[in-house]
Amino acid sequence: MKKIIIANWKMNPATPLEAEKLYHFSCDACLGSGENAEVIVCPPFVYLDTFSKIESSLKIGAQNCHWESGGAFTGEISAVMLKNLGVKYVIVGHSERRWIMNESDEMINKKLKAALANNLTPIFALGERIKGEDRKNILENQLKHGLVGLDSNKVGRIIFAYEPVWAIGTGNSETAEHAVEAIKIIKGFLDLNFNTQGSKLLYGGSVDSGNIKSFLERPEIDGALVGGASIKKEEFKKMIEIASGL
Ligand code: PGA
Repeated sequence: MKKIIIANWKMNPATPLEAEKLYHFSCDACLGSGENAEVIVCPPFVYLDTFSKIESSLKIGAQNCHWESGGAFTGEISAVMLKNLGVKYVIVGHSERRWIMNESDEMINKKLKAALANNLTPIFALGERIKGEDRKNILENQLKHGLVGLDSNKVGRIIFAYEPVWAIGTGNSETAEHAVEAIKIIKGFLDLNFNTQGSKLLYGGSVDSGNIKSFLERPEIDGALVGGASIKKEEFKKMIEIASGL
């Protein structure tokens, strides 16, 4: 089955020239992966316009959106603006937004609704903050509050990314075995409450070329959300090659 690789560039790189180089390198790395891997790149907002105009096999996503379509929200970008730019995906609920920017489950729920209403595919990130916490309870709560008011049809369009916060950017990834357990918790919740079939479930948190295979070779894991390693050109290329070769 085709695996999904999402590159979350976060607040990198600093110049348009570097961003374009990285984008073109990622496009080239992606050539030939077509049948086995789907690659989505999520750069900072300021590069979206340029990239959305380039014909390539890469798909473009944003890292965030606001739930209102317009108005007095200084510094925000709406889902409708992203749609009108040709963006197809948006990350919602990333832990850096939850914990640094104080985003609540209620805000995340509104963002998911706005993204879906604008035909964007949300990449809904969730996960426990501290290793060893009551993961089942935390994940189910994030799902319960994040998905309030959405029907099965809409929930079925969301890509879920299990991202334990303690594993993000630390070099200490979760083991594939434990990631599968968490993904089963998410899937169990979705099956029970939304009867969704075929939801996409990803793992994220210190994924690199050394460990990506262990995650992607598990049938329960549909792909990886990659941060730090996605802006290291050779690393990213290797990861796409591994995903394509599975
Ligand atoms: P990381 O980030 O790969 O650098 O751990 C993942 C993420 O933040 O989505």
